[in-house]
Amino acid sequence: MGCSAAGAALLTVAFLLSIMLSDAIRNPIRLPSDRNEGLRVESGGGGGDTVGTRWAVLIAGSSGFYNYRHQFDDMLLPSFLFASTQADICHAYQIMKNGGLKDENIIVFMYDDIAHNKDNPRPGVIINHPKGGDVYSGVPKDYVGEDVNVNNFFAVLLGNKTALNGGSGKVVDSGPDDHIFVFYSDHGGPGILGMPTYPYLYSDELVDVLKKKHALGSYKSLVFYLEACESGSIFEGLLPEDINIYATTASNAYESSWGTYCPGDRSRPPPEFYTCLGDLYSVSWMEDSDIHNLQTETLKQQYRLVKTRTSVNETYKSGSHVMQFGDLELNVENLFVYLGSNPANANATFIEDNSLYFHNDAVNQRDADLVYFWHKVGASRLPDLMVNAEYERAPLGSSQKLGAHKELLDVMAHRLHVDASVELIGNLLFGSERGSEMLKMVRPSGQALVDDWSCLRLMVRTFEMHCGSLSQYGMKHMRSLANICNAGISVEGMAKVSAQACNSIPTNPWSSLHRGFSA
Ligand SMILES: *[C@@H]1O[C@H](CO)[C@@H](O)[C@H](O)[C@H]1NC(C)=O
Ligand SMILES: *[C@@H]1O[C@H](CO)[C@@H](O)[C@H](O)[C@H]1NC(C)=O
Ligand SMILES: *[C@@H]1O[C@H](CO)[C@@H](O)[C@H](O)[C@H]1NC(C)=O
Repeated sequence: MGCSAAGAALLTVAFLLSIMLSDAIRNPIRLPSDRNEGLRVESGGGGGDTVGTRWAVLIAGSSGFYNYRHQFDDMLLPSFLFASTQADICHAYQIMKNGGLKDENIIVFMYDDIAHNKDNPRPGVIINHPKGGDVYSGVPKDYVGEDVNVNNFFAVLLGNKTALNGGSGKVVDSGPDDHIFVFYSDHGGPGILGMPTYPYLYSDELVDVLKKKHALGSYKSLVFYLEACESGSIFEGLLPEDINIYATTASNAYESSWGTYCPGDRSRPPPEFYTCLGDLYSVSWMEDSDIHNLQTETLKQQYRLVKTRTSVNETYKSGSHVMQFGDLELNVENLFVYLGSNPANANATFIEDNSLYFHNDAVNQRDADLVYFWHKVGASRLPDLMVNAEYERAPLGSSQKLGAHKELLDVMAHRLHVDASVELIGNLLFGSERGSEMLKMVRPSGQALVDDWSCLRLMVRTFEMHCGSLSQYGMKHMRSLANICNAGISVEGMAKVSAQACNSIPTNPWSSLHRGFSA
């Protein structure tokens, strides 16, 4: 994988150049580096509208338990827990880099609290596969920490430097011939994507920004790969088919996506790791891109292969439904148009039959934290899973163990509180017979989660005013709040029942209001 890129690159410079030259004739799409080097190449290539630059925006929407760490610095903190999304993003960077994209055209958002985390058994290194090498090396730190936020993500996509707040200042300064690839890996919920900072990102806002980018005339086509729980809900019924955008998502609108290379898997991380190393959809497209010649493999071929692997050979046992949205005609294009291609794979032919490993022990992303805490307190009911030597070794009754125990109780209390509050609100609004059914209702495919997104925002606010923050776990209840809007309940009505359901906001850190609204 990626990290040995430097050596490989030296050896293949001559080869790369020859590929680029011959390719300029065969294929109208150029490597970004052509732009500076080559009028020579351009005149060889002919047509004026065929010149384009490849851009990539890579974003990990999760940090460790940011808010928790922020408030309780002295406790044992699970910031290594959501390592997988940052590992995914680093791996994606290596693919872009090997594909020939330049750093100036790759914009990376990640909280960056993993590589040098005290819980990382390999300091300064991030791996995305049990036997994989370092994928962290060389990754540009464009937007890290607090700078990973919705405002900056939109400013970067739109190429609007004045709207930026912090960060490297790099934006997608693209023109009408350019191709843009966006990869977002995160823990989400219906209609919403997480960020390491509040507020989270609503689907309608994201799609509005994509439409705006299209209206600016600043791309030829854009491909969006999205890993998150319920990620289908981000584009379903929202993404137009006529703005040259093709998107695939890890799951449909109403199911979890899955972590992989988890402790306890058949293909598990080295024993010193107690967290998943990647996410199933993400590693599926990336491991495919690592080995194939992307000049000949199409988006559609990759979609099929990733769909098969992510569905665990269509059993959907610990797997999800990979979906595609937007302008499906774009999927006949070669991946090369967006990702470039690693010259070392020039002779690799695409094989239809799926030789990639099937996982069937993946961990539901949403439960990863519970499993983690369970083991942190030294419980042994889940042998092999999420075992961290450091915590395991902590003596019984030590402050470490006690701290871990309190964390587990806090996490469980938050979950119970959020689940029970939403359920009670449903019963109060729709009666105990229909409450649960009304909240869980899934709209027919092709229809967006909610018709009135500003209503959804108001419902989230109203809930959080009375019941405390939904936070990352509570995102799973976005559908219930959307259904409350779809049923025509007024904000006043919602406020009334929320006040009844939650007469106080619990004090545990997961449900605190210290950081304001989560969405
Ligand atoms: C860029 O962002 C600034 C600040 O938010 C805004 O005033 C301006 O209209 C934006 N420019 C464009 C071209 O969208
Ligand atoms: C996947 O499923 C197909 C059809 O059910 C089956 O023929 C094939 O052997 C399976 N592949 C693996 C690797 O399990
Ligand atoms: C691809 O195959 C050609 C012809 O056999 C060979 O000369 C070249 O070195 C191979 N390239 C790579 C990257 O393996």
